[in-house]
Amino acid sequence: MDIKKVGVIGAGQMGNGIAHVFALAGYDVLMNDISREALDAALTVIDTNLERQVSREKISADAKAEALGRISTTLTLADLGPTDLVIEAATERETVKAAIFEDIVPHLAPHTILTSNTSSISITRLASRTDRPEKFMGFHFMNPVPVMQLVELIRGIATDEATYKTLHGVVERLGKTSATAEDFPAFIVNRILMPMINEAVYTLYEGVGSVASIDSAMKLGTNHPMGPLELADFIGLDTCLAIMNVLHDGLADTKYRPCPLLTKYVEAGWLGRKTERGFYDYRQDPPVPTR
Ligand code: CAA
Repeated sequence: MDIKKVGVIGAGQMGNGIAHVFALAGYDVLMNDISREALDAALTVIDTNLERQVSREKISADAKAEALGRISTTLTLADLGPTDLVIEAATERETVKAAIFEDIVPHLAPHTILTSNTSSISITRLASRTDRPEKFMGFHFMNPVPVMQLVELIRGIATDEATYKTLHGVVERLGKTSATAEDFPAFIVNRILMPMINEAVYTLYEGVGSVASIDSAMKLGTNHPMGPLELADFIGLDTCLAIMNVLHDGLADTKYRPCPLLTKYVEAGWLGRKTERGFYDYRQDPPVPTR
C-alpha cells in the first residue's frame, strides 16, 4: 500500500520527532494534540532540530523548508480520518490511548493503518479496542527520533502481512532500520533497557554508588553514550516507572519490581529533564546530581 499522508497524535517529544522524520522523508504530516500551545511548541522544536541538521550539513536548507511546509497541525482528532497511516504518540497510559482510538475510529478511512508508538503496552489489547485489528501495529520509535536508527515493529495477534510489509517499507523510506518484536510486555528494547535502568536505581538506593559514579561507570566502562540515570532522566522517570510496572504486571516476576526510589522520584514530580529535576538538577548548568 502506498502511504502519502500521515497523521501523528501527540506533539510531545516522540510525536514531534516522528513528524520531523516523516516530513523530511517526503510524507505529508498532520499533527494533532489537545493543546494549541503543545502544537506550537512542537513546531518550534522541529524547526530547531531541522536547523541543527542543516548546520551540521546533514540536510540542505531547501530540504528543511520543504519538510516544514509538509507539516500541518490540528486540534481536531477527526481531521486525521482521511490519512493513510495514523501514529498515536500520546501519553503512555492505556486509558488515554484507548480513549483516543475510540474517538478516531469512526472517522478513519477503511484503508487507514492505525499504529501506536507505545513503548510497552500490549498491541493485541490496544488493537482489540479498534475496528481494524488486522490493520493495527506497534510502531515504536526511539528518542531522539531524528538521531536514533531503530524502529521496533510489533505485530498484534491479528495483524495481517500486508500491514507489516507496508510499515517495513515505510521504515526503509525513512532511512531507518527495523527490528521485529513479538507482542510481549515491553517488546525488545525496553524489556532489556528498563531492568538495566531500574537496577541502576537500586544500585543508588542501596548506596553502592552515587549518581555520578554509577553514570560514569557505565559510560566509561561499557561505552554507553549516556549513563543509565542520565538516560532515565532523558526518557522521563514516569515513563520508566510505567514500563517497569507493565513488565512486573505482565510477566508476574519479582525481578521486574520497580525500585522504591524510582517511585519516590516520580511521586515527588521529579520526572527528569522535562520537569528540570530527576537524578540530576537541570536548573543549573552543568546539571548537578540530586543524590
Ligand atoms: N534532532 C536532531 N538531531 C539531534 C537531536 C535532535 N533532537 N539531538 C541530537 N542530535 C544530533 C546532533 O546534531 C549531533 O549530530 P552530529 O553527529 O551530526 O554532530 C548528534 O545528534 C549528537 O548530538 P550532540 O553532539 O548534541 O550530543 P551527544 O553526542 O551527547 O548525543 C544523544 C546526544 C544522541 C542523545 C546521545 O547521548 C545518545 O545516543 N544517547 C542515548 C539515547 C538513547 O539511548 N535513546 C533511546 C532511549 S530508549 C527509547 O527511546 C525507547 C523507549 O521507549 C523509552
